[in-house]
Amino acid sequence: MFNKKINPNKLKPNTDFIAQNVVYLKTVNSTNTLAKKTNCENGTLFIAETQTDGKGRMGREWLSEKNCCICMSIVLNPVTVIEAVAQITLVTGLAVCETLNKLFDLKFKIKWPNDIVIDGKKICGILVEGVTEGNKITKLIDGIGINVNQKAFPDELKNKATSLFLLTGKKNDRTKIINSFAEVFESYYTDFIDGNFESLMEKYKALCVTLNSNVTLIQNGETINAVATDITEKGELTVKKEDGTFLNINSGEVSVRGIYGYY
Ligand code: BTN
Repeated sequence: MFNKKINPNKLKPNTDFIAQNVVYLKTVNSTNTLAKKTNCENGTLFIAETQTDGKGRMGREWLSEKNCCICMSIVLNPVTVIEAVAQITLVTGLAVCETLNKLFDLKFKIKWPNDIVIDGKKICGILVEGVTEGNKITKLIDGIGINVNQKAFPDELKNKATSLFLLTGKKNDRTKIINSFAEVFESYYTDFIDGNFESLMEKYKALCVTLNSNVTLIQNGETINAVATDITEKGELTVKKEDGTFLNINSGEVSVRGIYGYY
């Protein structure tokens, strides 16, 4: 039976630590902001029915329609290396994409670094933030927004965003999606901690629509046309520029416009 609200009593994934501790809120400014300032155990999941100040990448706003979206943040610690932020972003994107592909008979893909897309529209965004003490990262906040039961989007988003409802024509149970995601993510995160980032990237690359496509990079006001050729062991995108030289780009440095050119 479909439940309109997330049922926190049924958030019981078959995991060892991811989402074993759950903080469920009807409303919050941002699950990332709350998770950042709360002392809690590794794997704690913050989940809200709506956010009043949902945060997207590059300072953008993230729309969090009440009772429709999955707005969640997972606390990961201890993490000490700065590269982990970019790498966990990619691992999370892979886990969301595979979860959705497993649950729905649809072909979701990844736009580097971390958007889950289908038919040229975005269904999920990921914002990983590090909490630092001195020059060390003490924990990571892995923020994930999935559009589930939205029936429509505002005019400025309707050509760029989609939801599971718009794709399947029916309401979907967010509790089930979260449980399933937690299980896939724990398995991949454990692989990552065990040093298997490269094998995860093989799976990631098979789902990545950015690879082998033309991209336009906007870097320091300059526009560079290139072809995306690979993902590095740090999670950077390797591109071949028109002059034949290669460049590794970090997700924070540039805006990438490609076939999913909504930025
Ligand atoms: C993006 O710009 O694509 C990233 C969007 C990330 C949104 C999620 S929703 C849950 C978590 N809390 C936030 O404020 N942002 C992230």
